Amino acid sequence: MRPEVWDFIEGGAGEERSLAANRQAFTRTRLRTRVLTGAGEGDPATTVLGRRWAAPLAVAPMAYHTLVHRGGEMATAGAAGAAGIPLVVSTFAGQPFEDIARAADSPLWLQVYCFRDRETTRRLIERAERAGFEALVLTVDTPRLGRRLRDLRNGFRLPPHITPANLPVEGADYSSPWEHSRTGMDPSLDWSVVDWLRSVSGLPVLVKGVMTPEDAALAVAAGVDGIIVSNHGGRQLDAAQATLDVLADVAAVVDGRRALLLDGGIRRGADVLAALALGADAVLLGRPILHGLAVAGQEGVAQVLDLVVDELTEAMTLTGTATVADADASLLAAPATAA
Ligand code: FNR
Repeated sequence: MRPEVWDFIEGGAGEERSLAANRQAFTRTRLRTRVLTGAGEGDPATTVLGRRWAAPLAVAPMAYHTLVHRGGEMATAGAAGAAGIPLVVSTFAGQPFEDIARAADSPLWLQVYCFRDRETTRRLIERAERAGFEALVLTVDTPRLGRRLRDLRNGFRLPPHITPANLPVEGADYSSPWEHSRTGMDPSLDWSVVDWLRSVSGLPVLVKGVMTPEDAALAVAAGVDGIIVSNHGGRQLDAAQATLDVLADVAAVVDGRRALLLDGGIRRGADVLAALALGADAVLLGRPILHGLAVAGQEGVAQVLDLVVDELTEAMTLTGTATVADADASLLAAPATAA
């Protein structure tokens, strides 16, 4: 990978405090092992929004998989399908939705950025719906792109062959994500955007980027089908809290009424189990997917997913957690000192 591409993927906003915090929240979490429970090997399969997933895991939406491997989103979709888990396809996917759908054999969700030009957004949603996508994930934490200093220092621009395959090309310049976001994204959205999405599509709607109980309550009131706790992988507000640290309070407000997912810093199977114990129904995996893709295309993504699912199964088995539904706060050790 070229250094500036590596920086674009790995980097976060500002001093990368929220990026580091996401990981630290997991590494200081300890799970309680249980013995002689008779539970046998843990079963990671679960049901989310009425669909069976082989594990409580999905691929997070990330722009331009074609940037790291020419197999692009199609390779990722093939690996997600083989693992029996969904792929959330970015508004800025590098390949056409129809091609990704052909390569996929597990659910595809569309991540939606709402542009100032609603018509462009509406057409994007229609195209995904026609291609068989099953849900909309509205990213709500990006009224503008965070200041990612690595990209600013590198003067990062996409190579000319990397373009958003499902957005209009005429008159648009997407080569600088930073500049495009300032002109293209609608910075003044409010909760009525959920009604607008409902008016253009019958698909379930999730909001991605909720970090407070107040906003979770508003999301429930707005009638969303699911909430994704996310700080955009530490790429937006540098001073943001770690996602794992806000999960329990958000889960208390949601109270099982909506699907609740989390992303940011999931790197190990035990991280998945910790998130389930704190109230998530499932998690999304970001950067490690692009690492696998960069190294070995579809096979690389498949191996990353295999490893995480195997580690999750191991963690479930060693904690006496027979099923995903059995994961609760009793799995968590009380912190020895205040965090
Ligand atoms: C992202 N993320 C993201 N989110 C989104 O809603 N739409 C997008 O297009 C992108 N693009 C994107 C590109 C790259 C290179 C990265 C690393 C991330 C954020 C992503 O969905 C997710 O929230 C985080 O990546 C999860 O954190 P981890 O697993 O990477 O720590």
